[in-house]
Amino acid sequence: MNPDFTGRHVVVTGATGALGSAVVQALLASGATCHLPSRGTEAFEGLASLGALQRTRVHPAAGVDPTDEGAVTAFYAGLPGLWASIHCIGGFAMAALTETGAADLDRLMQANFRSPFLCSREAARRMLREGGRGEPSGGRIVGVAARTGLEPRGGAGMAAYTASKAALVGLTQALGEELAPAGILVNAVAPSLMDTPANRKAMPQADHSRWPRVEDVAATILWLASPQNVLVRGAVVPVYGRS
Ligand SMILES: NC(=O)c1ccc[n+]([C@@H]2O[C@H](COP(=O)([O-])OP(=O)(O)OC[C@H]3O[C@@H](n4cnc5c(N)ncnc54)[C@H](OP(=O)(O)O)[C@@H]3O)[C@@H](O)[C@H]2O)c1
Repeated sequence: MNPDFTGRHVVVTGATGALGSAVVQALLASGATCHLPSRGTEAFEGLASLGALQRTRVHPAAGVDPTDEGAVTAFYAGLPGLWASIHCIGGFAMAALTETGAADLDRLMQANFRSPFLCSREAARRMLREGGRGEPSGGRIVGVAARTGLEPRGGAGMAAYTASKAALVGLTQALGEELAPAGILVNAVAPSLMDTPANRKAMPQADHSRWPRVEDVAATILWLASPQNVLVRGAVVPVYGRS
């Protein structure tokens, strides 16, 4: 069953990134209205390639840093309605423990844990208050973890990154239980190395055909965020493909 977001408002963080922009494209094709907070001042780049009709359903919120508590709170409070909140922001660093400073740790925790925590909280406050589309309550929250967040022993040499994604896995499972009685289903995906321009540039010799495509990861996210998902909660879905 194809996800149908017709008439529904969805927040996507990290929409300027490889996965986030694929999520936005898929949401627009499924009828959603997208709200895109971003710390930068540039609009969502993919806008230029959209038809006029789809463009009316994209609302970039430039200068709204999704790691900043005040900015996040004000942003969610000002939305016209909210069905789902999808959190694609993320940072990465490969560094031995002995080479990881507190500033490096803070940067990873901000992007990989603090931002999805704050956005989940404000999304839940909105959904609990008024529901998705006039229903008593309900909604969907989807995070983006990583393979090492699910399988931390694979995170040697990137312990800070691994721990920040493992924290998101814990958050997803705890919120999956906490918010289910209100009809808010919280889930996440855990991608392995994805086929992105940045990864191709960093690893030109790798077999890119084995990496999950961002469009396919986006399709999994969309299903978790859709009204068609009526049962799945607290799941962190491995999206590894053939890698
Ligand atoms: N790429 C992979 O192979 C891979 C594998 C496993 C998991 N993941 C996860 O998948 C998600 C998407 O990855 P991607 O490759 O699409 O990422 P990406 O292209 O690097 O985009 C990252 C996004 O996060 C935003 N961001 C990063 N740090 C931020 C901060 N401190 N404050 C505010 N915004 C911040 C960026 O905004 P700006 O445009 O403002 O920089 C951008 O929109 C991330 O959560 C990542 O950890 C990726």
